[in-house]
Amino acid sequence: MRPGYFHDMYAVDPDPWGFTSRWYERRKYALTLASLPRARYRHVFEPGCSIGVLSEQLAARADRLLACDLVPTAVEQASARLAASTMARDTEVDVRQWDLRGPWPDTTFDLIVVSEVLYYLEPAEARAFMTSAVGHLEPDGHLVSIHWQPVVPDYPISGAEAQRIACSSAGLSRLAHYEDADVVLDVLARGPAFSVGEADGLR
Ligand SMILES: C[S@@+](CC[C@H](N)C(=O)[O-])C[C@H]1O[C@@H](n2cnc3c(N)ncnc32)[C@H](O)[C@@H]1O
Repeated sequence: MRPGYFHDMYAVDPDPWGFTSRWYERRKYALTLASLPRARYRHVFEPGCSIGVLSEQLAARADRLLACDLVPTAVEQASARLAASTMARDTEVDVRQWDLRGPWPDTTFDLIVVSEVLYYLEPAEARAFMTSAVGHLEPDGHLVSIHWQPVVPDYPISGAEAQRIACSSAGLSRLAHYEDADVVLDVLARGPAFSVGEADGLR
């Protein structure tokens, strides 16, 4: 992506994708949250968190949450949203500025949510990101990848290619897949692929 691409977007509009207003986004978040195999996670990571609308909903399912974005004004908005949120009141929240092409934080996660962010990277960067993600996922961890399907000419790769890179990462197996004309979602597991019914003793 052109340097300054995202900074320029936030300078024009504090919510450039309409995360707080669009039904597409509310539905995308509902799909993401419904797809999570566990009710609650110990440590959740959302890279590319923007203004923290999904982060807030993830916080309601997490003991700890790390949310990061490249753009300082987005990080400020996400921090303020999470600090004021009753959904996040039982969660230890850390919101940071971080370029996801750089070194990873020295910690591990049992859930990483890659929501509409992998296609901003070049293919080699996206593969390196996924290798790091798998390396920072705990043995029972899950990774959800969800992207907009239609090709966007500005973006280095399509949503379909982003999903292919995520799903072909060594060390992950697929638990679930959802796809329609707009959005594609995969739930991936680091360890053995137990179903929710198995984990809940139903089979
Ligand atoms: C489309 S938003 C996705 C927000 C959120 N994950 C969601 O689904 O609601 C993409 C965000 O990724 C951030 N981003 C893009 N490239 C990044 C990078 N290299 N490192 C960190 N954040 C990045 C942008 O600043 C933007 O806020």
